[in-house]
Amino acid sequence: MKLGGSLITPKREGALEVKEDVIRQVTLDLLEIYRSGRRLFLAHGAGPFGHIPVRRYGIHEGLRPGAELGVSETMVSMMDLNLRVARVMMELGLPVIPFHPRLIFRREGDELTCGLETALRWIKSGFVPLTHGDLVHDNRRVVSVLSADEIPLCLLSMGLREVLFLTDVPGVLNEMGEVLREVSGMNLPDLGGSSFDVTGSMRGKLDVALRLARMGIDVRIAGFSERGDLIRALKGESGTRIRP
Ligand SMILES: Nc1ncnc2c1ncn2[C@@H]1O[C@H](COP(=O)(O)OP(=O)(O)O)[C@@H](O)[C@H]1O
Ligand SMILES: [Mg+2]
Repeated sequence: MKLGGSLITPKREGALEVKEDVIRQVTLDLLEIYRSGRRLFLAHGAGPFGHIPVRRYGIHEGLRPGAELGVSETMVSMMDLNLRVARVMMELGLPVIPFHPRLIFRREGDELTCGLETALRWIKSGFVPLTHGDLVHDNRRVVSVLSADEIPLCLLSMGLREVLFLTDVPGVLNEMGEVLREVSGMNLPDLGGSSFDVTGSMRGKLDVALRLARMGIDVRIAGFSERGDLIRALKGESGTRIRP
Protein backbone atom coordinates (compact mmCIF):
# COMPACT_ATOMS: atom_id res chain seq x y z
CA MET A 1 0.00 0.00 0.00
CA LYS A 2 1.41 3.37 -0.97
CA LEU A 3 0.11 6.47 0.76
CA GLY A 4 0.65 9.46 -1.49
CA GLY A 5 2.60 12.47 -0.33
CA SER A 6 -0.37 14.56 -1.41
CA LEU A 7 -2.59 12.52 0.89
CA ILE A 8 -0.52 12.78 4.07
CA THR A 9 0.94 16.29 3.71
CA PRO A 10 -0.38 19.65 2.48
CA LYS A 11 1.64 19.10 -0.70
CA ARG A 12 0.19 21.98 -2.69
CA GLU A 13 0.78 24.53 0.08
CA GLY A 14 4.33 23.25 0.53
CA ALA A 15 4.20 23.31 4.34
CA LEU A 16 6.30 20.85 6.37
CA GLU A 17 3.29 19.47 8.17
CA VAL A 18 1.39 16.20 8.22
CA LYS A 19 -2.34 15.74 7.85
CA GLU A 20 -2.65 13.80 11.08
CA ASP A 21 -6.38 13.38 10.83
CA VAL A 22 -6.17 11.81 7.37
CA ILE A 23 -3.41 9.47 8.57
CA ARG A 24 -5.65 8.49 11.50
CA GLN A 25 -8.57 7.64 9.22
CA VAL A 26 -6.31 5.67 6.87
CA THR A 27 -4.85 3.81 9.85
CA LEU A 28 -8.29 2.79 11.11
CA ASP A 29 -8.93 1.16 7.73
CA LEU A 30 -5.46 -0.42 7.77
CA LEU A 31 -6.13 -1.86 11.23
CA GLU A 32 -9.25 -3.55 9.93
CA ILE A 33 -7.25 -5.15 7.11
CA TYR A 34 -4.36 -6.07 9.39
CA ARG A 35 -6.69 -7.71 11.93
CA SER A 36 -8.29 -9.79 9.19
CA GLY A 37 -4.89 -11.49 8.85
CA ARG A 38 -3.62 -9.88 5.66
CA ARG A 39 0.09 -9.08 5.46
CA LEU A 40 0.85 -5.44 4.76
CA PHE A 41 3.85 -3.49 3.49
CA LEU A 42 3.40 0.29 3.64
CA ALA A 43 5.26 3.05 1.85
CA HIS A 44 4.49 6.77 2.01
CA GLY A 45 5.39 9.59 -0.33
CA ALA A 46 7.43 12.67 0.43
CA GLY A 47 5.36 15.76 -0.26
CA PRO A 48 7.25 18.94 0.66
CA PHE A 49 9.52 17.02 3.07
CA GLY A 50 11.32 15.54 0.08
CA HIS A 51 10.50 17.63 -2.95
CA ILE A 52 11.58 20.98 -1.45
CA PRO A 53 15.17 20.04 -0.42
CA VAL A 54 15.62 17.88 -3.54
CA ARG A 55 14.76 20.84 -5.76
CA ARG A 56 16.78 23.30 -3.71
CA TYR A 57 19.97 21.23 -4.11
CA GLY A 58 19.15 19.91 -7.59
CA ILE A 59 19.49 16.34 -6.35
CA HIS A 60 16.98 15.06 -8.92
CA GLU A 61 19.77 15.59 -11.45
CA GLY A 62 22.40 13.77 -9.41
CA LEU A 63 24.93 15.06 -6.91
CA ARG A 64 26.12 18.61 -7.62
CA PRO A 65 29.56 19.57 -6.28
CA GLY A 66 29.13 20.79 -2.71
CA ALA A 67 25.57 19.48 -2.37
CA GLU A 68 26.48 16.69 0.05
CA LEU A 69 24.74 18.33 2.97
CA GLY A 70 21.61 18.69 0.88
CA VAL A 71 21.59 14.91 0.64
CA SER A 72 21.79 14.61 4.42
CA GLU A 73 19.13 17.28 4.84
CA THR A 74 16.71 15.50 2.51
CA MET A 75 17.19 12.18 4.26
CA VAL A 76 16.74 13.66 7.71
CA SER A 77 13.63 15.51 6.52
CA MET A 78 12.16 12.22 5.22
CA MET A 79 12.96 10.53 8.52
CA ASP A 80 11.13 13.34 10.27
CA LEU A 81 8.05 12.71 8.12
CA ASN A 82 8.34 8.94 8.57
CA LEU A 83 8.52 9.36 12.34
CA ARG A 84 5.43 11.56 12.39
CA VAL A 85 3.45 9.04 10.32
CA ALA A 86 4.74 6.10 12.35
CA ARG A 87 3.76 7.75 15.60
CA VAL A 88 0.15 8.24 14.54
CA MET A 89 -0.12 4.65 13.29
CA MET A 90 1.51 3.18 16.38
CA GLU A 91 -0.70 5.17 18.73
CA LEU A 92 -3.77 3.68 17.08
CA GLY A 93 -2.41 0.15 17.49
CA LEU A 94 -0.73 -0.71 14.18
CA PRO A 95 2.68 -2.36 14.87
CA VAL A 96 4.74 -0.55 12.25
CA ILE A 97 8.46 -1.01 11.65
CA PRO A 98 9.92 2.23 10.27
CA PHE A 99 12.21 1.28 7.39
CA HIS A 100 14.66 3.54 5.57
CA PRO A 101 15.07 2.61 1.89
CA ARG A 102 18.62 3.91 1.51
CA LEU A 103 19.76 1.06 3.76
CA ILE A 104 18.33 -1.67 1.52
CA PHE A 105 17.81 -0.12 -1.94
CA ARG A 106 20.37 1.17 -4.43
CA ARG A 107 20.57 1.79 -8.15
CA GLU A 108 22.93 -0.09 -10.45
CA GLY A 109 22.45 1.56 -13.83
CA ASP A 110 18.76 1.34 -14.65
CA GLU A 111 18.20 -1.38 -12.13
CA LEU A 112 16.88 -0.96 -8.61
CA THR A 113 18.30 -3.58 -6.29
CA CYS A 114 17.29 -4.33 -2.76
CA GLY A 115 17.72 -6.82 0.04
CA LEU A 116 14.40 -7.70 1.58
CA GLU A 117 15.10 -10.68 3.81
CA THR A 118 14.87 -8.63 6.98
CA ALA A 119 11.63 -6.89 6.03
CA LEU A 120 10.12 -10.24 5.11
CA ARG A 121 11.00 -11.68 8.51
CA TRP A 122 9.30 -8.76 10.23
CA ILE A 123 6.18 -9.29 8.13
CA LYS A 124 6.10 -13.01 8.89
CA SER A 125 6.41 -12.14 12.58
CA GLY A 126 3.26 -10.03 12.38
CA PHE A 127 4.72 -6.55 11.90
CA VAL A 128 4.05 -3.93 9.23
CA PRO A 129 7.07 -2.32 7.52
CA LEU A 130 6.54 1.40 6.98
CA THR A 131 8.94 2.80 4.44
CA HIS A 132 9.03 5.98 2.33
CA GLY A 133 10.40 7.82 -0.66
CA ASP A 134 14.11 8.51 -0.11
CA LEU A 135 17.47 9.21 -1.69
CA VAL A 136 19.41 6.10 -2.60
CA HIS A 137 22.95 5.39 -3.74
CA ASP A 138 23.33 5.41 -7.50
CA ASN A 139 26.46 4.00 -9.16
CA ARG A 140 26.30 6.61 -11.96
CA ARG A 141 25.02 9.77 -10.28
CA VAL A 142 26.14 9.00 -6.70
CA VAL A 143 22.67 9.72 -5.45
CA SER A 144 19.19 9.59 -6.91
CA VAL A 145 15.61 9.97 -5.83
CA LEU A 146 13.68 6.81 -5.04
CA SER A 147 10.00 7.54 -5.42
CA ALA A 148 7.82 5.61 -2.98
CA ASP A 149 5.81 4.68 -6.09
CA GLU A 150 8.77 2.57 -7.27
CA ILE A 151 9.12 0.55 -4.08
CA PRO A 152 6.58 -2.18 -5.00
CA LEU A 153 8.67 -2.99 -8.11
CA CYS A 154 11.22 -4.42 -5.71
CA LEU A 155 8.80 -6.45 -3.62
CA LEU A 156 7.87 -9.13 -6.13
CA SER A 157 10.16 -11.74 -4.63
CA MET A 158 8.33 -11.32 -1.32
CA GLY A 159 5.17 -12.77 -2.80
CA LEU A 160 3.58 -9.39 -3.50
CA ARG A 161 0.13 -9.89 -5.02
CA GLU A 162 -1.68 -6.60 -4.78
CA VAL A 163 -0.65 -2.93 -4.87
CA LEU A 164 -2.86 0.00 -3.96
CA PHE A 165 -1.72 3.58 -4.59
CA LEU A 166 -3.79 5.91 -2.43
CA THR A 167 -3.71 9.54 -3.45
CA ASP A 168 -5.60 12.84 -3.23
CA VAL A 169 -7.62 12.33 -6.43
CA PRO A 170 -10.25 9.56 -6.69
CA GLY A 171 -8.29 7.70 -9.38
CA VAL A 172 -6.95 8.33 -12.86
CA LEU A 173 -9.11 11.03 -14.39
CA ASN A 174 -10.08 11.59 -18.01
CA GLU A 175 -10.13 15.05 -19.72
CA MET A 176 -13.58 15.69 -18.19
CA GLY A 177 -12.29 14.96 -14.71
CA GLU A 178 -14.18 11.66 -14.43
CA VAL A 179 -12.59 8.63 -12.80
CA LEU A 180 -11.60 5.95 -15.29
CA ARG A 181 -12.64 2.55 -13.94
CA GLU A 182 -9.84 0.87 -15.84
CA VAL A 183 -6.68 1.92 -17.61
CA SER A 184 -4.55 -0.40 -19.69
CA GLY A 185 -1.36 -0.02 -21.69
CA MET A 186 -3.67 0.30 -24.69
CA ASN A 187 -5.73 3.31 -23.56
CA LEU A 188 -3.32 5.40 -21.50
CA PRO A 189 -4.72 8.89 -20.91
CA ASP A 190 -2.62 11.92 -21.85
CA LEU A 191 -1.29 13.37 -18.57
CA GLY A 192 0.10 16.82 -18.00
CA GLY A 193 3.38 17.22 -16.09
CA SER A 194 3.95 18.84 -12.70
CA SER A 195 6.84 21.22 -12.10
CA PHE A 196 6.87 20.79 -8.33
CA ASP A 197 6.95 17.01 -8.25
CA VAL A 198 10.37 15.52 -8.93
CA THR A 199 9.02 11.99 -9.31
CA GLY A 200 6.60 12.47 -12.16
CA SER A 201 3.28 12.80 -10.34
CA MET A 202 0.45 10.71 -11.86
CA ARG A 203 2.49 9.99 -14.97
CA GLY A 204 5.28 8.34 -12.94
CA LYS A 205 2.74 6.45 -10.87
CA LEU A 206 0.97 5.09 -13.95
CA ASP A 207 4.27 4.02 -15.47
CA VAL A 208 5.09 1.92 -12.39
CA ALA A 209 1.50 0.68 -12.11
CA LEU A 210 1.59 -0.60 -15.69
CA ARG A 211 4.90 -2.36 -15.14
CA LEU A 212 3.47 -4.06 -12.05
CA ALA A 213 0.31 -5.08 -13.90
CA ARG A 214 2.46 -6.64 -16.61
CA MET A 215 4.14 -8.73 -13.92
CA GLY A 216 0.78 -10.11 -12.88
CA ILE A 217 0.12 -7.87 -9.87
CA ASP A 218 -3.36 -6.63 -9.08
CA VAL A 219 -2.91 -2.81 -9.20
CA ARG A 220 -5.26 0.02 -8.37
CA ILE A 221 -4.94 3.81 -7.99
CA ALA A 222 -7.62 5.26 -5.73
CA GLY A 223 -8.44 8.23 -3.54
CA PHE A 224 -8.99 8.51 0.17
CA SER A 225 -11.19 11.13 1.76
CA GLU A 226 -12.92 9.33 4.61
CA ARG A 227 -12.80 6.20 6.72
CA GLY A 228 -13.77 3.14 4.70
CA ASP A 229 -12.39 4.45 1.40
CA LEU A 230 -9.34 2.20 1.65
CA ILE A 231 -11.51 -0.87 2.27
CA ARG A 232 -13.74 0.07 -0.67
CA ALA A 233 -10.72 0.48 -2.93
CA LEU A 234 -9.37 -2.94 -1.92
CA LYS A 235 -12.74 -4.47 -2.75
CA GLY A 236 -12.47 -2.91 -6.20
CA GLU A 237 -15.40 -0.56 -5.57
CA SER A 238 -13.50 2.68 -6.20
CA GLY A 239 -10.54 4.08 -8.08
CA THR A 240 -8.91 2.92 -11.29
CA ARG A 241 -7.81 -0.62 -11.97
CA ILE A 242 -4.60 -0.83 -13.99
CA ARG A 243 -4.40 -3.62 -16.54
CA PRO A 244 -1.48 -4.69 -18.72
N1 LIG B 1 -5.27 12.43 -15.47
C1 LIG B 1 -4.99 12.58 -14.17
N2 LIG B 1 -5.69 11.87 -13.25
C2 LIG B 1 -5.40 12.01 -11.94
N3 LIG B 1 -4.44 12.82 -11.44
C3 LIG B 1 -3.71 13.56 -12.31
C4 LIG B 1 -3.95 13.47 -13.70
N4 LIG B 1 -3.08 14.31 -14.32
C5 LIG B 1 -2.36 14.89 -13.36
N5 LIG B 1 -2.71 14.44 -12.14
C6 LIG B 1 -2.14 14.89 -10.87
O1 LIG B 1 -1.45 13.84 -10.25
C7 LIG B 1 -1.59 14.01 -8.84
C8 LIG B 1 -1.30 12.70 -8.15
O2 LIG B 1 0.07 12.44 -8.25
P1 LIG B 1 1.03 12.85 -7.04
O3 LIG B 1 0.89 14.29 -6.71
O4 LIG B 1 2.38 12.32 -7.35
O5 LIG B 1 0.34 12.03 -5.89
P2 LIG B 1 1.01 11.36 -4.64
O6 LIG B 1 1.44 12.47 -3.78
O7 LIG B 1 -0.15 10.61 -4.11
O8 LIG B 1 2.12 10.52 -5.12
C9 LIG B 1 -2.99 14.49 -8.65
O9 LIG B 1 -3.14 15.21 -7.46
C10 LIG B 1 -3.20 15.38 -9.89
O10 LIG B 1 -2.91 16.71 -9.59
MG1 LIG C 1 3.92 11.31 -6.29
